[in-house]
Amino acid sequence: MSTVREKSEDTYFFGHPKGLMTLFFTEMWERMSYYGMRGLLVLYMTIGVAGNPGMDWSNIQANAIYGIYAGMVYFLAVPGGWIADNILGYQRSVLIGAIIITLGHFTLAIPLEQTFILGLVFVALGTGLLKPNISSIVGQLYSQNDSRRDSGFTIFYMSINIGSMLGFAVCGWLGEKVGWHLGFGAAGIGMLLGVTQFILFRHQLGDAGKYPNKINEQTRRNYISGVGLVIFIVTFIVVSGMAGLWSIDPVYFAERFRDFLVIISVIYFIYLLFFAGLNTDEKRNVLMLLLLFIGAAAFWSGFDQSAGSLTIFTRDYVSLTFGSFIAPVSWTQFLNPLFVVMFAPFFAYLWVFLGKRNLDPNMPVKFAIGLILMAIGFIVMIFAVKFALVSSPVGVQWLLLTYLLHTFGELTLSPVGLSAFSKYSPKKYLGQMMGIWFLASSLGGVLAGLLGGEATQSGLQSMTPVFTNLVYYCLAIAGILIGLSFFIKGVSEEKEDQK
Ligand code: PHE
Repeated sequence: MSTVREKSEDTYFFGHPKGLMTLFFTEMWERMSYYGMRGLLVLYMTIGVAGNPGMDWSNIQANAIYGIYAGMVYFLAVPGGWIADNILGYQRSVLIGAIIITLGHFTLAIPLEQTFILGLVFVALGTGLLKPNISSIVGQLYSQNDSRRDSGFTIFYMSINIGSMLGFAVCGWLGEKVGWHLGFGAAGIGMLLGVTQFILFRHQLGDAGKYPNKINEQTRRNYISGVGLVIFIVTFIVVSGMAGLWSIDPVYFAERFRDFLVIISVIYFIYLLFFAGLNTDEKRNVLMLLLLFIGAAAFWSGFDQSAGSLTIFTRDYVSLTFGSFIAPVSWTQFLNPLFVVMFAPFFAYLWVFLGKRNLDPNMPVKFAIGLILMAIGFIVMIFAVKFALVSSPVGVQWLLLTYLLHTFGELTLSPVGLSAFSKYSPKKYLGQMMGIWFLASSLGGVLAGLLGGEATQSGLQSMTPVFTNLVYYCLAIAGILIGLSFFIKGVSEEKEDQK
């Protein structure tokens, strides 16, 4: 009891518990390193930038690797959450995850082609362990009915975007202007600051997320052996690959990974709908979440073009010269987190404003709006490509507009998705369903890599058809969501009434 009282009286950090400050800075540094490195990734793998050559892999292969990486990061959040629940507890998962990520970035800082994939593997594994669990601790800082909960998550979302800005600014500059591996190393130093900060201020979290679920010790030991076995197998596969014993075409791998994600998602939803013994209301809600899942995957598949095809477009066809200054290509990705920080308060206010007038759109409609904004963003890009075909380079205003629309889409869809999954998932399956929310990002990431590869394989010519497809399928899914929202809305409101 006393700890709950203490927590609710703790208003140290902008009216929020001290622990939020610890998590704020850990996540800030983690995202700094993640996005800082990600902004350089495709540039480094392909021809590089003026005066700083890259590894010269083809656009299609580089994008596939980027897609596998982005997909893996969020796919691994599913086992990452499970390990925290059952073995390590959340705090220790965050700490170990952060250390593995640091190792990953420092591995990338080694100027060798052979260690490149190993570095990516470390970052992906570490992020899988850190990212879902740090958000869970945020939730655990507040008692169930603490009214600061939502604003706590809003502050946390700020840390994500402040960190991203820092990453693009610092790693982008160093990586492109000085040397790729210095950029990766800077990401490592950022993450090291995050680790240090977490170790020093971890005590402020108190018991939030300290212990794993109470389970039978024997079961826990079995779990640990299982995880140990998986780590052994993964290590064996990676090391033998590095030793040149096997190799695989990244595009083929990305396609199979995509199939795998689709199959496990389909199986999981079929299980929930037909075999989990849910009542009719719960099934209807699962059906709604399935639709949102499809919407989210489609949305992220467009959104994540930022570090893939849009980065290549920027490098090859956009003028970044301002007077005597030439901005790094990855600096354009600064726009998304900047717009998030600028406009998140406005969007939060907008929903409250509309809510008071009973005009707040329901969840599927908000998703549809997000997808429509995504589509409009790509319509802008189709025009940008048209202009670039006539005379290149084009101005940076095209990217400004596209990223603005995509950010508005993100602010409409992403927080709503998170809250939909935490609110409408059948209670017994909550943890797993949060994992499914991450799977949507994962599927989006790998699709982004595959589409980005197709879009950039033969210059501007190949961009228009892919961007046009993106527009079509985002609009088609938005249409379906709006069409079904009448039916789905009923279910959500019924649920609301019962509360
Ligand atoms: N910018 C967000 C972040 O890095 C994007 C995101 C949303 C990622 C939802 C995963 C899930 O956290």
